[in-house]
Amino acid sequence: MDEQVSKRRVAIGVTGGIAAYKAIEVLRGLQRAGCDVRVAMTRHACEFIQPLTFRALSGSYVIVDDYAPHNPDPIAHITFSQTIDLFVIAPATANTLAKLANGVADDFLTSTYLACTAPVLVAPAMNTTMWQHPATRRNLEKLRSDGVHILEPDAGEMACGTIGPGRLSEPDRIVARALAILETTQSPAAADLPSTGSRVDLQGERILITAGATREPIDPVRFISNRSSGQMGFALAEAAGKRGANVIVVAGTTTADPPTDIELIKVTSAEDMRSAVLGQIEEATILIAAAAVADYRPKKTEPAKIKKSNPTLTLELERTSDILGDVAHQKRKDQLLIGFAAETNDILSNATAKLTSKKLDVIVANDVSRNDIGFDSPNNAVTILVRDGLQPIELPAMSKLEIAHRILDEIVKLRHRSATAKTA
Ligand code: CTP
Repeated sequence: MDEQVSKRRVAIGVTGGIAAYKAIEVLRGLQRAGCDVRVAMTRHACEFIQPLTFRALSGSYVIVDDYAPHNPDPIAHITFSQTIDLFVIAPATANTLAKLANGVADDFLTSTYLACTAPVLVAPAMNTTMWQHPATRRNLEKLRSDGVHILEPDAGEMACGTIGPGRLSEPDRIVARALAILETTQSPAAADLPSTGSRVDLQGERILITAGATREPIDPVRFISNRSSGQMGFALAEAAGKRGANVIVVAGTTTADPPTDIELIKVTSAEDMRSAVLGQIEEATILIAAAAVADYRPKKTEPAKIKKSNPTLTLELERTSDILGDVAHQKRKDQLLIGFAAETNDILSNATAKLTSKKLDVIVANDVSRNDIGFDSPNNAVTILVRDGLQPIELPAMSKLEIAHRILDEIVKLRHRSATAKTA
């Protein structure tokens, strides 16, 4: 761990949700990384977990109410907020998001936010319907434009039994994101410099990327999936982030490590991925669909493990929705759609057909029959096809990160083309 990061002071703000106990793991992870951690809680958070737990683990007084007679510091919200390098609010409830977005400071935690000049990382957690409510979407948008870092919740089974996005991001991801922010803030000049040169040409873009494989359940222990590792999607996320874009990745099953400073939504099935993408698409300016989405799923998921009682077994499959196709139907003029074409034969003609039928701006054709590149490999060789019949760009075998930059170069060129067309 970097010496300077190890001295950083982090405050964790815990608000009142069932995931409040996970803040313990966040605290421990930050401490393991060498950070000095203090904790503030809302009153409702204390319904879920005792301040004493955080006090014992952090070694510092946990502030809930700065007016409390036993509070050792009479102007705690100022002292506290001015002596931290990062404020992590995890879990953040819908109510807290609303207060932060509107500058309401009616308790210690929200006053600290208003009095804080350090970067703020918010990890929301709430019921799926609350997460998808237009009021919450609006509040998140406001917070983003105020410069707050948002770590989107995961999708999955919630405490209330519903399935969908809203579950607090895993503590180790919160810790990784917090450390990445600390590294960026201690050396902003270095953080802005992309690894491939000095290009910061995607500023102002919000890029939604799908990555990895989906899993379609057959029974509680079996599923249908594919070999995608997520490397290409993550390479695109890393490259786009370095070039100044605001990146969000919706990832199915992956074996590759995601970049740390991105928003990541984890999903399982094609249907989960579809709802996560449709939930994010309105705020996105570009969608890059690098995921290998299952085209078929079992028509029925057996509730119990299928026993081997019969000599043969027939599974009936049904089509999944085409996520990219669905997005294409509602595409705005300012949005760009980029797809991948995984092909084993007639690669260019199949990819060209997909470019047209899915109304894409760019398609990246990929020969998945080769074992040395593509699925599960750090390298790939692709052909980039851009709309309007431009000359295909054939790239020889190279790292997925380099390919990611070449794809992003074409996106930047498309943006310039449409800007020039508007002014002509
Ligand atoms: N895709 C998608 N939703 C699906 C299937 C694919 O969004 N249900 C996206 C992929 O992420 C990729 C593009 O569509 O960007 C093309 O995927 P590919 O598997 O190559 O083609 P399909 O459209 O599935 O057609 P086919 O399998 O018949 O070649």
